[in-house]
Amino acid sequence: MFARALITLVFLAPCLCKVYEDVVQLPGLSYDFVIVGGGTAGNVVANRLTENPNFSVLVLEAGVSNEGVLDSIVPFFVVNLLQPSIYEWNYTTVPQPGLNGRNVEIPRAHMLGGCSSHNGMIYTRGSADDYNRFAAITGDPGWSWDRLLPYFFKNEKWTPPVDHHDTRGQFDPAVHSNKGINSVSLSAFNWPIFANHVIESTKELPDEWPFNLDMNSGKPLGLGWLQSTIGDGMRSSSATSYLGPEFIHRKNLHVLLNAQVSKLVESSHVNGKLTFGGVQFAQGGTLFYSNGRKGDYSLRWSPLAGLGISSLLDIPSVGRNATDQPVFILGWTVNSTQTLDSLIQNTTLFNEAFAQWNRSHTGPFSAEGTTQLAFFRLDSQTLASNNFSDPSAGSDSPHIEVAFSPSNFGALPGSQAVSVGIIVLNPVSRGSVTINSSNPFDSPVIDVGFLTSDVDLFTGREAIAKVLKLFKAPTWQDYIIAPIGDLENSSDDELDEYIRNTTRSTNHLVGTAAMSAKDARYGVVDPDLQVKGASRLRIIDASVFPFIVSGHTQAATYVIAERGADLVKEAWK
Ligand SMILES: Cc1cc2nc3c(=O)[nH]c(=O)nc-3n(C[C@H](O)[C@H](O)[C@H](O)COP(=O)(O)OP(=O)(O)OC[C@H]3O[C@@H](n4cnc5c(N)ncnc54)[C@H](O)[C@@H]3O)c2cc1C
Ligand SMILES: *[C@@H]1O[C@H](CO)[C@@H](O)[C@H](O)[C@H]1NC(C)=O
Ligand SMILES: *[C@@H]1O[C@H](CO)[C@@H](O)[C@H](O)[C@H]1NC(C)=O
Ligand SMILES: *[C@@H]1O[C@H](CO)[C@@H](O)[C@H](O)[C@H]1NC(C)=O
Ligand SMILES: *[C@@H]1O[C@H](CO)[C@@H](O)[C@H](O)[C@H]1NC(C)=O
Ligand SMILES: *[C@@H]1O[C@H](CO)[C@@H](O)[C@H](O)[C@H]1NC(C)=O
Ligand SMILES: *[C@@H]1O[C@H](CO)[C@@H](O)[C@H](O)[C@H]1NC(C)=O
Ligand SMILES: *[C@@H]1O[C@H](CO)[C@@H](O)[C@H](O)[C@H]1NC(C)=O
Ligand SMILES: *[C@@H]1O[C@H](CO)[C@@H](O)[C@H](O)[C@H]1NC(C)=O
Ligand SMILES: *[C@@H]1O[C@H](CO)[C@@H](O)[C@H](O)[C@H]1NC(C)=O
Ligand SMILES: *[C@@H]1O[C@H](CO)[C@@H](O)[C@H](O)[C@H]1NC(C)=O
Repeated sequence: MFARALITLVFLAPCLCKVYEDVVQLPGLSYDFVIVGGGTAGNVVANRLTENPNFSVLVLEAGVSNEGVLDSIVPFFVVNLLQPSIYEWNYTTVPQPGLNGRNVEIPRAHMLGGCSSHNGMIYTRGSADDYNRFAAITGDPGWSWDRLLPYFFKNEKWTPPVDHHDTRGQFDPAVHSNKGINSVSLSAFNWPIFANHVIESTKELPDEWPFNLDMNSGKPLGLGWLQSTIGDGMRSSSATSYLGPEFIHRKNLHVLLNAQVSKLVESSHVNGKLTFGGVQFAQGGTLFYSNGRKGDYSLRWSPLAGLGISSLLDIPSVGRNATDQPVFILGWTVNSTQTLDSLIQNTTLFNEAFAQWNRSHTGPFSAEGTTQLAFFRLDSQTLASNNFSDPSAGSDSPHIEVAFSPSNFGALPGSQAVSVGIIVLNPVSRGSVTINSSNPFDSPVIDVGFLTSDVDLFTGREAIAKVLKLFKAPTWQDYIIAPIGDLENSSDDELDEYIRNTTRSTNHLVGTAAMSAKDARYGVVDPDLQVKGASRLRIIDASVFPFIVSGHTQAATYVIAERGADLVKEAWK
């Protein structure tokens, strides 16, 4: 067999590093667990399983190294990573009917750490209601907020911001942990003129826009300071944290880069369940095999039969119920030069900011540019009178997020502007991730189904109205010059057109391998994350969300991975 033949090659090329670039450097191809994808979740599972020296783990990552990639280290440089590059899978959706036929980009990281190496670093857990809905729908109380809180704490390493500013009144220490692995902090640079106006608004409009000391308490409603996965002014990803220096030298943990898994192999039936003995993967045009004795595959994209590919297991829900949150932006020109755009457009300022970051990891480049977030609910009366059922997970759970940034992302060159991103948090629209080719190296067909449900558009319109009122608060009067576009006087149809023409993806695609109750007639994995009908095959990543959480998705992904790793450990105790 190919695998056995390869093992004889291994000792020819000893390597001191533990992240291997070339399969011939790998000390072996036979492991207890093979993890497909060294992404956000995959590296958590790799770390936790190798806490037990009796377990050997191989992580196969299709992408390249994160090591020394400046754009993945300097928080402010995140935007540089969102274009086609060797760090990207370069996906776009199929034309979206709800977006007047436009396609939208779906960035996905092609590097160690997965999307945690190139995401916006925003740290939001979602609401307690979100996880209690997970527990209710799966019938497993282990997915409830109370039971997951210890896993949030295992993940989170609360870190003081690198500027050491006084953080009292900006977060609630009681809901954070400094004992976890992945750094989380308040921003060390806050764009004070803009940020102060935002905070002042909560004092002037306390009923509509209340201040929330900590949006990660399980009760996110209100407006509060951004927390992000940044430590010491640098991005904290699953690669820098869970595969950090204190873990990567474990003898039982091997990571192979440039290795794209294309197939599960050696299928057999054990006690009526399908089991696989290993995986096939490609490196540099050659196929290799690795076998997992205990088996654990963190699958990313699930192939579907229909192109002459024989199906071993019939799970119709694979790739269905794809859920992503739409986002669109509203902007205002302002009477201030303290904006991201002036920093980007002025070479002198840019170079000074970079030199400062390079010297001390402080200054504007130590943060990602969002200052605060707000979460609010639609009015339940208005929802009901429009005959919409409430898509949120519960009464403490928001429908809408507003992200504040002193930037218009270069949309009006030469002028100073600020903006808010409006996110529809509980979209009812669903899409799919399928394939149209039998070649596993071709891109999947991604349809996020944006704005195909009326309630999602309605939510967007309600959010616009609410945000326009915020910017009427007295505090903004000498600061705001004018809104960009006249949405204030637009009809519903005009608002819909604006939303359809400007919506993008938040890059929070989840749910294509959803968990469901053991006896459910839909779903892809059981509540213990085992693939239905299979054994020794688990999916542990953002695809298993049964519903999207009402926030950004990385914290939830980390927590699913932390608990998922415990479920695997428990099974092989
Ligand atoms: C641009 C962007 C910005 C975002 N911003 C935020 C944010 O600010 N806050 C937030 O909370 N969330 C954010 N998210 C979402 C969040 O990062 C993701 O939901 C989360 O990281 C997903 O984790 P995952 O483990 O499921 O997948 P990933 O982290 O994507 O990991 C999958 C890994 O598997 C690898 N892989 C895929 N196929 C194969 C194969 N066949 N063989 C081997 N390896 C393979 C990939 O290369 C990748 O490394 C953002 C996402 C993106 C893309
Ligand atoms: C590892 O295996 C040894 C020998 O079987 C056993 O004594 C030990 O308890 C195991 N360690 C863990 C952490 O499971
Ligand atoms: C994405 O596009 C870039 C630039 O065209 C290319 O270098 C890179 O290899 C592509 N990524 C993948 C996974 O094909
Ligand atoms: C999609 O999810 C819903 C629950 O939210 C479920 O009722 C439905 O069966 C799922 N559809 C598929 C195809 O899995
Ligand atoms: C850029 O910023 C520097 C430093 O504040 C300032 O002196 C200069 O006038 C600015 N240049 C432009 C073109 O605005
Ligand atoms: C960053 O700092 C290093 C030394 O720590 C120096 O070699 C390098 O030139 C600096 N880069 C820039 C752009 O200032
Ligand atoms: C809501 O449903 C009722 C009963 O079917 C109907 O009379 C009413 O017109 C609907 N309202 C809206 C806004 O669609
Ligand atoms: C498959 O879908 C992609 C878009 O996702 C498209 O570019 C490609 O042409 C399609 N291929 C076939 C054979 O339909
Ligand atoms: C801009 O702000 C200054 C004071 O900071 C004020 O004097 C001026 O009137 C403002 N301009 C506008 C257009 O609001
Ligand atoms: C909206 O219309 C009113 C009344 O005509 C006008 O005063 C206001 O300036 C308009 N708003 C914008 C943003 O143009
Ligand atoms: C929205 O997009 C459609 C389709 O591209 C275009 O025809 C229309 O003019 C756009 N509307 C606005 C207000 O820009």
